[in-house]
Amino acid sequence: MEKDIYILAIESSCDETAAAVVKNGREVLSNVIYSQIALHTEYGGVVPEIASRKHIEKINQVIGQALADAGRELSQMNAVAVTYGPGLVGALLVGVSAAKAISFASGIPLVGVHHIEGHISANYIENKELKPPFICLVVSGGHSHLVVVKDYGEYEIIGRTRDDAAGEAFDKVARAIGLGYPGGPKIDKVSKEGNPEAICFPRAKVGNAEYDFSFSGLKSAVLNYLNSCQMKGEEINVADVAASFQKAVIDVLVEHSMEAVRKYGYKKFAIAGGVASNSGLRKAFEEACQKGGITFYHPSPVYCTDNAAMIGTAAYYEFQKGIRHGFDLNAVPNLKLGERV
Ligand code: KG4
Ligand code: ZN
Repeated sequence: MEKDIYILAIESSCDETAAAVVKNGREVLSNVIYSQIALHTEYGGVVPEIASRKHIEKINQVIGQALADAGRELSQMNAVAVTYGPGLVGALLVGVSAAKAISFASGIPLVGVHHIEGHISANYIENKELKPPFICLVVSGGHSHLVVVKDYGEYEIIGRTRDDAAGEAFDKVARAIGLGYPGGPKIDKVSKEGNPEAICFPRAKVGNAEYDFSFSGLKSAVLNYLNSCQMKGEEINVADVAASFQKAVIDVLVEHSMEAVRKYGYKKFAIAGGVASNSGLRKAFEEACQKGGITFYHPSPVYCTDNAAMIGTAAYYEFQKGIRHGFDLNAVPNLKLGERV
């Protein structure tokens, strides 16, 4: 019988201080998330310096809690995994330093993980049967990627955003219509009260790259619409604007993704990242996949937004491949998917 592998995983790339214990890659024994959202709300977005300072304050407590919740000792861990990029450099450094210190003091091997690889791997946690190859749409606050997951740890990016990430567009539009930060969940909620056909916002195509996205034109269209209403003295229906904007984003994401799934001939499709918790998006993909005879995978909302369980899952497959990092592991804010440092 194969030996069980326990991984202590740490995530601090943006505004969540998180730690988890994952057994054999897919069994989450604990998943502790300290969200800094409330702290950044008054500034309308993440303030990097505040995020780093809060990570320092919270990280040891969160790691201790993850081990306690899992009912395990540090000495029982086979690896300590940490997100080392992409993300905010000061925020990443806190997790990387903590993981290196634990590894140095305990002798437990260190495994650095790519944040987006973590998001994609979140799909393995609750879908025990899911194995590569498949296509995954990663939509978060910093990234919008259409990815062919060829194998564990092997990726080909076939589409990306040319400007704003999908989550960034949600956050900016939410601010413009007065919903505040973080915009995604707020637009999701208020959209349920609105008419998605009320306003026809543009669905951008990127000329020579059929799977690429562009959301900055859509954001400008929403701002122009708001300005013109104001100038004409017309009342703005926030729910209709939110629902129409959300529908424009979803339409583009679904169309590009389904086109890629058809072209590449895969029968499995997954979504990942914070925006993947959007209820309208999930429903639209459920319908599109059902129509196309494709099996649709998505993590529960808690595994869509930033968490350390997904890092532990990604780390398991890296660990099994023999990947280990030295104490020279550094934060790499612009780390490319599939690139190993
Ligand atoms: O993956 P994530 O937690 O952090 C990054 O790696 O960026 O994603 C955060 C993003 C934010 O832009 C947030 O507004 C968006 O995900 N988001 C949502 C929803 N929940 C979070 N966007 C749309 N609908 C949601 N329900
Ligand atoms: Zn993320």
